[in-house]
Amino acid sequence: MKITVQKGDITQVQADAVIVNLFEGVKKTVGGTAAVDKALKSAISDELRLSSAFSGKLGETCVLNAYQAIPARYVIVVGLGKAEEFDSAKIRRATASAIRACQKLQVKSVTSILPELSKSSSSEGQSPETLARLLLEGTLLGAYQFTGGKSKEKLKKAPQRVQKFIVVEQDSKKISAIKKGVKMGQGIAGGTNATRDLVFDSPNHVTPTYLKKMAEALAKESAELTVKVLAQKDLLKLKMGAFLSVAKGSDEAPYLIHLSYKPKLARGAKSKKGKVKKVALVGKGISFDSGGLSLKPPKSQELMKMDMAGAGAVMGVMKAIGELGELDVQVDAFIATCENMPSARASKPGDIVTTRKGTTVEINNTDAEGRLVLIDTMTYAQEKVDPDEMIDLATLTGAQVVALGEIAAASMGTCDDLIERIKKAGEPAGEKFWQMPLYDEYKASLKSDVADLINAGSKGQAGTCSAGMFLKEFVDEGRAWAHLDIAGPAYTTRDFPEVPRGASGFAVRTLLYYLYGLS
Ligand code: BES
Ligand code: ZN
Ligand code: ZN
Repeated sequence: MKITVQKGDITQVQADAVIVNLFEGVKKTVGGTAAVDKALKSAISDELRLSSAFSGKLGETCVLNAYQAIPARYVIVVGLGKAEEFDSAKIRRATASAIRACQKLQVKSVTSILPELSKSSSSEGQSPETLARLLLEGTLLGAYQFTGGKSKEKLKKAPQRVQKFIVVEQDSKKISAIKKGVKMGQGIAGGTNATRDLVFDSPNHVTPTYLKKMAEALAKESAELTVKVLAQKDLLKLKMGAFLSVAKGSDEAPYLIHLSYKPKLARGAKSKKGKVKKVALVGKGISFDSGGLSLKPPKSQELMKMDMAGAGAVMGVMKAIGELGELDVQVDAFIATCENMPSARASKPGDIVTTRKGTTVEINNTDAEGRLVLIDTMTYAQEKVDPDEMIDLATLTGAQVVALGEIAAASMGTCDDLIERIKKAGEPAGEKFWQMPLYDEYKASLKSDVADLINAGSKGQAGTCSAGMFLKEFVDEGRAWAHLDIAGPAYTTRDFPEVPRGASGFAVRTLLYYLYGLS
């Protein structure tokens, strides 16, 4: 979709469809919506007065034919919900809903005003930049569709998609702020949609090698990103026995991918600000989780292409940062990627492996593989960059899905403040994180008779917490660390305007909101 920002009158723009908006229960239209209403001889007001089907509820849309009163053929009025309940997540939802209505009409070009500010609404404080960003987030997230698996023949026959999106604003003073917001929104939605593509796509396509190539491409495209890839022989040299034990059952080569974003300041530019904050992101990238010799039943294997959603989210975040830049935080992303397969070379239940840290682990269940690749990668991340904060993302446990469903991710770690800040960043981003405890008592379930630790010890009790506890064993004393188990929300069954059914791209927005301090 090509995006442009234009100064002018919404009723004059050449486009197939016009999107305007209004709050629930309003009697009188305002701003750009009023201008279109007037041009349409009060068709919008009449609809509000006479129809019980449209009252401006959040995400509700009403399609009117313009009958040549304006250049556009259709007018889509989208409900913003109650003015006093208006917030960032609602703007995203309303704008996503509007673009979906446009897709249904199969129009090529669309123009839209910013969501209307109203004196009584809670959005009054939001700047044109923020509104433009949210408009673009909603539009691009709502327009998303995964088409990577369809044949060319099928795609040719697919319905027309929106190709051109024009943001219109009357006030020339707001244009440069709107342009900034548009760029940010494009970056955030682009990162999320890239993650969705990775997670939706099939495991014979999105292999560890594919992820490696994508990381290399991101680093090539952005002057601010660098990449270092560790292959199997490097992992051997680094004595990553836990990571390698998962990879060895597969014919696909494993990789530890390190993407790094350094702000100019960290690259040596002079600044009075002093030290740059360093955040490390660690992603679980199991491109397919069969369970290994502790094989999953067929039904449970069906969606295990999504077991790289943590890595996918980290990749999406780095793609956005690479494009957007202008971030005064150093971000180092570590993606641990391999397949978990059964074979004559696969790890066996009972195997004991030595981690990079030196701790030994008895693998009693080869299906608890995520924690094995993560621990060596977390050890490496801490050695390599000594981060101020380390955040890992993983589709780690089925127990997380049982506990919180697809609605929220589980968060836990060593720093309540960091966990709280991530939760807070998730609110305007429209993503929920719920903290789970890491009680010392959970450690008892990780005891092995023959090694230092056992990888899957919980036996049906607090599986998410005991997995978190296992990871905690590999976090340095005093390190601020948050573990985000996204098993449920990463791949969903419910369709929302801004989140399609299936691969959601969960956590990309929250992390970008967190890093950029957005609201
Ligand atoms: N990848 C799975 C977790 C998972 C399950 C993600 C469902 C998304 C949806 C993970 O590797 C796994 O299999 N975990 C086991 C751990 C157990 C053996 C201790 C689980 O949760 O059953
Ligand atoms: Zn598993
Ligand atoms: Zn897994």
